Amino acid sequence: MTGVLLRSGLKKMNKLVKDNTNKEIKILAIESSCDETAAAVVVNGRDVRSNVISSQVPLHTLYGGVVPEIASRKHIEKINPVIKQALSDAKMTFDDIDAIAVTYGPGLVGALLVGVAEAKAISFARKLPLIGVHHIEGHISANYIENKELEPPFLCLVVSGGHTHLVHVADYGKYEILGRTRDDAAGEAFDKVARSIGLGYPGGPKIEKAAREGDADAIDFPRAKVHDNPYDFSFSGVKSAVLNYLNSCRMKNTEIVSEDVAASFQKAVCDVLIEHAISGAKQFGAKRLAIAGGVASNSCLREGMREACAKEGISFYHPSPILCTDNAAMIGAAAYYEYIAGVRSGWDLNAVPNLKLGER
Ligand code: KG4
Ligand code: ZN
Repeated sequence: MTGVLLRSGLKKMNKLVKDNTNKEIKILAIESSCDETAAAVVVNGRDVRSNVISSQVPLHTLYGGVVPEIASRKHIEKINPVIKQALSDAKMTFDDIDAIAVTYGPGLVGALLVGVAEAKAISFARKLPLIGVHHIEGHISANYIENKELEPPFLCLVVSGGHTHLVHVADYGKYEILGRTRDDAAGEAFDKVARSIGLGYPGGPKIEKAAREGDADAIDFPRAKVHDNPYDFSFSGVKSAVLNYLNSCRMKNTEIVSEDVAASFQKAVCDVLIEHAISGAKQFGAKRLAIAGGVASNSCLREGMREACAKEGISFYHPSPILCTDNAAMIGAAAYYEYIAGVRSGWDLNAVPNLKLGER
């Protein structure tokens, strides 16, 4: 097991959860770590009253990926209207809100700073508690929203554009990282492969769409194993294998069927993700397995994971696709458990682009 990361100050969590169940805690949450400007109102961590997402995808598509400077400027433009919309959709005003939550890392520093500055300003002006939230903790907590019965402990596979982690959620706010990627994140591999076969940005959904028309057994792409930790991942090999395959087809003048490349690549990535997660669950005796992050909206991964979990008698959880990709409802869900544990951020809260899970 690598990197056991625990956070202090969260003892007696279950007792605190019970003591707080009678009061409705309404959290206004803000997310701006990458290319979505988002705000949501979440009550008691699981009841989403509004979830507003302003996506910058069409803007960044022009450049084939996220341009950090453009992302920050767009967040500044959108953040106030998005918050106003979130309050209005929830039929609330700032007077109804108990706390402000914001993603403070990891992510693009300029993008994070917009959300953090906004949250601090609201918190100061309205005298509301401020809670800085880890983006990955948010992704994991997205599972609580539609699965009311889900509580720790469980295993969670976090697969996004920047992260691939197999995490043991020991308790609310208490995480042990069993495995992580040694190179590219799963979503990053989807994005790079999509670009190389000319599908454009964002790669994940485009690969998934093309793969539906392709044969997943057409090309035998490698499934990498990392020898010193069976739960670590590596996706740079499969990405290079796709590039080599494309180059060799071009050199030999043979036809490239991009649907087959997409389907075979997607299957290779999903096979590894499923195998690692299931063997982790078996090894650690986990009866519940969840997935989270943008790649968790991929239907090949969801169906494969559902089947594998059913075979092993493990309960499988996943958020709806809209709660898999970046959103603020997941930040509000994570923030609730911080709030009831007494975690508060000060005026010195800052953007931390490389924040590690379990760190404060
Ligand atoms: O969680 P997310 O919205 O942002 C980060 O925190 O990174 O994840 C975005 C990533 C991108 O790499 C995107 O290509 C990938 O998730 N993604 C998908 C799908 N939808 C989004 N990957 C595979 N299949 C999808 N359907
Ligand atoms: Zn994310």
